[in-house]
Amino acid sequence: MEPDPHLRIAIQKSGRLSDVCQHLLWKAGINLLFSERTLVVTSSNHPIDVVRVRNSDIPSLVMEGNVDIGVTGENMLCEKRLQRLERNQKAGYTTLGYLGFGQCRLSIAVPTNFAFTDLSCLQGCRIATSYPMLLKQYLHLHDVHADIVPLTGSVEVAPSIGMADAICDLVSTGATLTSNHLVEVAQVMRSQVLMIKHLGKLSDRNAHTLSAILKRLNGISGQAVTSPDHAHHLPGSA
Ligand code: PRP
Repeated sequence: MEPDPHLRIAIQKSGRLSDVCQHLLWKAGINLLFSERTLVVTSSNHPIDVVRVRNSDIPSLVMEGNVDIGVTGENMLCEKRLQRLERNQKAGYTTLGYLGFGQCRLSIAVPTNFAFTDLSCLQGCRIATSYPMLLKQYLHLHDVHADIVPLTGSVEVAPSIGMADAICDLVSTGATLTSNHLVEVAQVMRSQVLMIKHLGKLSDRNAHTLSAILKRLNGISGQAVTSPDHAHHLPGSA
C-alpha cells in the first residue's frame, strides 16, 4: 500500500514573508530544520513537509493540489486567481484565515511633480506594475484607459527611467515611494498574509494534523486563523 503522503505546506523561500512564515510554523509547534538550499523540509515531530518556493507560485500550487496548504499574500492570490481564470485554469481554494502579518496595500503612485487631481488624470498614461490583472480590473472599474507596463520587481524605478508615467505596487511603510520621489494617489486593494487550502479532501491523518496546527495558531495572540471562507471578499474571487 502507498504510504499516506505528508501534509504539504508551501511558504515563500526567501523574501519579505519567508522569515515570519518560518517563525509562525515554529510557533505552531512544528519542528523544522531549515537550510538555505533545502527546498522540501520534513518536520521531525509531525507528518508535514514544508515546500519552499517563490511567493508567486504558491497560489497555483494550492489550486492545482500540488500542495495542500499555502501561506501567501492576498495581493498575489488575487492576481494569480484572475490570471488563471482568464486562462480557464483551476482557480478554487478555501481560505483558512488571516495570519495577522504582512499588511500592505496595492496602490497607484505618481511622481511628485505629476499634477494629479483624480483618476481621470491617468487616462492614456503608462502604468508599470507586477500586478497587471488587478490593475486592469481596477482601471476598467473606474473607466480609465491606460497602458499597463508589466515589470516583475523594482517597479518604483519605472518613472525615473522613462518607462512609465505612474506605477502600481505594494506599499507598506511608504519609504520606497518617498525614496523614489513618488506619491500614492489611489488604493487598488488592501492585503495581508493568509493561509489557503486546496479544495480536495485531506486524508484523515492530514486533516487531524491541520486541525492541530490551526488550534495552535488560534492560541497565539494576534493570529486569526478560524475557518471562514473569505474568498468572496477578495478582488478576483468568484
Ligand atoms: C515591496 C514592494 C515595494 C516595497 C514597499 O518590495 O514591491 O517595492 O516592498 O515597501 P515600503 O512601503 O515599506 O517601502 P520588495 O522588497 O518585496 O521587493 P520587489 O521590489 O522585488 O517587489
